[in-house]
Amino acid sequence: MKIMVVGGGGREHAIIKKLKESEKVSKIYALPGNGGIAADAECVNIGAKDIDGIRDFAKQEKIDFAVVAPDDPLVLGAVDALEEIGVPCFGPRANAAIIEGSKVFSKNLMKKYNIPTAEYEVFSDLDEALKYLETAPIPTVIKADGLALGKGVIIATTRDEAKEAVRSMMEDKIFGESGNNVVIEEFLTGPEVSVLSFTDGETVIPMVSSMDHKRAKDGDEGLNTGGMGTIAPNPYYTKAVADECMEKIFIPTIDAMNKEGRTFKGCLYFGLMLTEKGPKVIEYNCRFGDPETQVVLPLLDGDLLEIMQHTANGTLKDAKVKFKDMAACCVVMASNGYPQKYDSGFEITMPTDKNIYVAGAKLEDGKLLTAGGRVLGVTEIGNSLKDAIGAAYETVKTVKFSNAYYRHDIGQKALAAENA
Ligand code: AMP
Ligand code: GLY
Repeated sequence: MKIMVVGGGGREHAIIKKLKESEKVSKIYALPGNGGIAADAECVNIGAKDIDGIRDFAKQEKIDFAVVAPDDPLVLGAVDALEEIGVPCFGPRANAAIIEGSKVFSKNLMKKYNIPTAEYEVFSDLDEALKYLETAPIPTVIKADGLALGKGVIIATTRDEAKEAVRSMMEDKIFGESGNNVVIEEFLTGPEVSVLSFTDGETVIPMVSSMDHKRAKDGDEGLNTGGMGTIAPNPYYTKAVADECMEKIFIPTIDAMNKEGRTFKGCLYFGLMLTEKGPKVIEYNCRFGDPETQVVLPLLDGDLLEIMQHTANGTLKDAKVKFKDMAACCVVMASNGYPQKYDSGFEITMPTDKNIYVAGAKLEDGKLLTAGGRVLGVTEIGNSLKDAIGAAYETVKTVKFSNAYYRHDIGQKALAAENA
């Protein structure tokens, strides 16, 4: 089968490597892919947001199955466009991708269907938001309504900071139109867990749980990033917690989307916080997480293409979804300075027989050069979390590029929790 994967980061590289294991796959195109992905798929210079370009390419190449991985094309209707020309797809239609595309939508959905989440208010008027902040509990969390490259969340620890955050979103429009509406919500505390799930709107199958490390520096210091590393499974996510999440969050969310006439098919990502009052939803994503995918898919013991086809066909209940009873660790290697200013264009040398997922690199005259903040992720699996972490850091030593930066403590919090 001819497969097309839309996107060009580490997550897409992990999806492509897993799809390549499937006997049914004969050819994979990546739109646009990147210099590292080029080792595993044919990269086509069509941007992930170019919906017309994606549709025309699929038609011209007679693509048999498409995977739309990033949030933007999903929210913009890439799946709708592809299905219109008869290309089966993994991913939600735009009317369901709104679960990530609009925080106001997702918060209102959770309230309407009693799905546990932080208390919140929505504002479209700056003065009203500022007035509310006079008496709101502090710390508080301010969220821009729409997609904001994962940066639309500000945790304010003082009233002034909160007001400044609201002004920057609603007046200065630092996140563009995403700031027309803001959600101001209760600050929750507790361990965070990412749970990606396959769902066809009828069945929901959670994948192995994981833990992201969002801050740039060791010890969870520094700025928020797209994710500096991940481990799976997440030790805080016990069987009892998983059962509670299934009953109170996963099934109710799938049902709620059906009742709203917005059946969700694809990967629904639950960003959870395990609070003293039970698990609560911090955010939904309408797609695989990055870099969660880089630890979840290497543990998948099965044919990803078949599972994706079942998801698209509405026959997920017949799919074989099993995860290895092992652990995984992904260490992201970034350009020093990320998530702010950094230099790039440095040559990368790395082993070719490892699970190295390239995110920001380009090919020039046959050389792989750094071309982004997050350059690549190194994943290893092991019989224990400790083994996986050790192996990942060993492999990191064999990857070389100038200006490389990575955290040294990926998985340490999880190890401590395991031993607690
Ligand atoms: P997001 O961009 O939605 O992934 O949010 C970024 C991070 O902000 C999350 O991973 C949490 O650590 C934090 N966060 C979001 N909402 C809340 C909340 N209500 N209480 C505490 N932390 C939050
Ligand atoms: N790792 C968080 C995300 O993909 O949004």
